Amino acid sequence: MRTQIVAHRGDRKNAPENTLIAYQQALAFRELDVLEIDVHLTKDRQLVVIHDEKLERTTNQHGYVHEHTLAQLQAMDAGSWFDGQFASQHLPSLEDVLKLLRETNFNKTLLIEVKTDHIAYPDIELLLWQRMQKEAPQYQVVYQSFNLDTLQKLAALDQTLTLNALVFYPTLRVMKMYRQGIITAINPDNRWFINRLFWLKKAHVSPWTVNTERAMRAVFKAQLGRIITDDIALAVKLRKEI
Ligand code: G3P
Ligand code: CA
Repeated sequence: MRTQIVAHRGDRKNAPENTLIAYQQALAFRELDVLEIDVHLTKDRQLVVIHDEKLERTTNQHGYVHEHTLAQLQAMDAGSWFDGQFASQHLPSLEDVLKLLRETNFNKTLLIEVKTDHIAYPDIELLLWQRMQKEAPQYQVVYQSFNLDTLQKLAALDQTLTLNALVFYPTLRVMKMYRQGIITAINPDNRWFINRLFWLKKAHVSPWTVNTERAMRAVFKAQLGRIITDDIALAVKLRKEI
């Protein structure tokens, strides 16, 4: 089985993560299979794409995402922290990402992480599901979260959704959700996966964040489902070699 390559927060190695330029650069890799994004909720209940709950690390402002409206968030510089040449990059809304995927005829897989592990965003699952229902995308959509309640809520909204559990280490609850078919795969911390996920099909394991040559080779050799990485070029090169 061919392990799929996932661009973690876009082409995070070469551009500010979770910005449109990072996604465009990731999509420029013909061999890419999956684009990963992280979704939060703004003060005015819009879906916005950023990794952290707070703004300090990846914008020129501070405070929590949920304390700001989408307009306020989009006025921030989300690129200079990475390199001055990216000063014009802003935090994308989910709308912006969907528009980019439409415009580029994206036909691979969008992996949406619902970032409810540290902050409870009321009804983010419902808002996300409603928006994606309207989109009816031409590509596959997979939802992942560290928060198992979020995955249960999505499953209750729509049994046809493809759901993955992000884990540092699998728990009994995760194993049960997998056996019940609520989640189709488990995406574990890559320091943990080797030889310990014997109760899963290999195709149902997608470790993160795999950036070293040694770890990548192990994932490809084991023929795991997906490899979630910051280094798309290295993953593409090694997958060809193995
Ligand atoms: O896709 C897996 C990975 O994104 C999970 O961790 O913290 O990078 O969102 P994080
Ligand atoms: Ca993520």
